Amino acid sequence: MNILVIGASGFLGQHVVSCFQLHGHRVWGTTFRSGGDGLITFDLGNDNILQCVPKAFLNSADPKCAIFCAGVTPMDRCVTDFAYAHDLMVTKTLRTIRDLRTADCRCVFISTSHVFDDSTPIRTEESTPAPIGTYAELKLEAENAIIGDVPDTLIYRLDKLIGNDPTTTHLLTEWYGKMGKGVPIVTIADQVFSPTLVNDIADAIVIGCRLQLYGIYHVASPIRIARSQLARDFVAMFDTNSVVVERSASEIGLLDRRCMNSWLDSNTFTSRTGFSFTKVGTILDSFARNVGRSARKTSSKTQPSFPSTTPQPERQTYESTCHAQKNL
Ligand SMILES: NC(=O)c1ccc[n+]([C@@H]2O[C@H](COP(=O)([O-])OP(=O)(O)OC[C@H]3O[C@@H](n4cnc5c(N)ncnc54)[C@H](OP(=O)(O)O)[C@@H]3O)[C@@H](O)[C@H]2O)c1
Repeated sequence: MNILVIGASGFLGQHVVSCFQLHGHRVWGTTFRSGGDGLITFDLGNDNILQCVPKAFLNSADPKCAIFCAGVTPMDRCVTDFAYAHDLMVTKTLRTIRDLRTADCRCVFISTSHVFDDSTPIRTEESTPAPIGTYAELKLEAENAIIGDVPDTLIYRLDKLIGNDPTTTHLLTEWYGKMGKGVPIVTIADQVFSPTLVNDIADAIVIGCRLQLYGIYHVASPIRIARSQLARDFVAMFDTNSVVVERSASEIGLLDRRCMNSWLDSNTFTSRTGFSFTKVGTILDSFARNVGRSARKTSSKTQPSFPSTTPQPERQTYESTCHAQKNL
């Protein structure tokens, strides 16, 4: 397949590029501001995708797929900059998907578990969305517009993505950086989520394209865990005095409303594809192992790094420290 990753410089986009390349597909990727080797500069707000992407992609007779990993992040920007966020996440995303469809390119759109509110007891693809925040409202508006206009688009709703690579930016590297500085890890109190390995989602996208899936699928780890518990389990793997503090979203200063239960029922996807997700303990263990590797391999410039006066925490395995992870 010929693959175009829109937002290839981002957290998910980078993993999607690597995963398709690993499977032997030809991959093109775009960046907005970050840049990156070989990436095409593309502004979803102002550019026409058909004028930015090389003819080698557009005119190829091979099947074509575009993966939308571009978005307005962080979520709070949807509140502070609503007009920009609406234009990018809804209007221009739909226009770009339509344009790509005219070039015989099918698309994958990435949505969110936050389209549901806390009272939704079952979260299958048939459940009725009820977003409580602006980011989630925009994602849902985009979903509906895309399904109405370009129904053969594949839409994946995801929960929180984490990585096992300590040299890229994600939740665990943020926590690890705080441990290194000796500052408390502050988490949203009472929030239950399904942290999912970003590499799993990249694999799931490859599978979805290969099987030509379309419509909405929930794709998230089946493990539900309180965010604060994950942080405590993470801290317990290292020999550190770091503490985890729980605060309400408003005390933390988050502007956009978030649901406190953001898990998803992904049974439709797993039974259709036979997919199984990486266990959260395995993710934490491999993160800790990779910390050791990157500390050995690179200089102190590598991110994240502990200040030289701070001893690097010793690590334990997740199994030896985890007592509280629950299948809620
Ligand atoms: N991460 C999660 O836990 C999670 C969970 C559920 C859903 N999602 C969704 O998954 C998608 C990817 O998330 P992510 O975590 O990978 O986000 P990210 O790391 O912030 O990456 C965002 C990407 O969007 C690009 N971008 C930003 N503004 C753009 C513009 N005007 N035109 C073109 N590209 C633009 C960025 O390019 P530059 O960096 O080059 O500027 C970057 O490549 C988003 O739609 C997000 O809502 C993420």
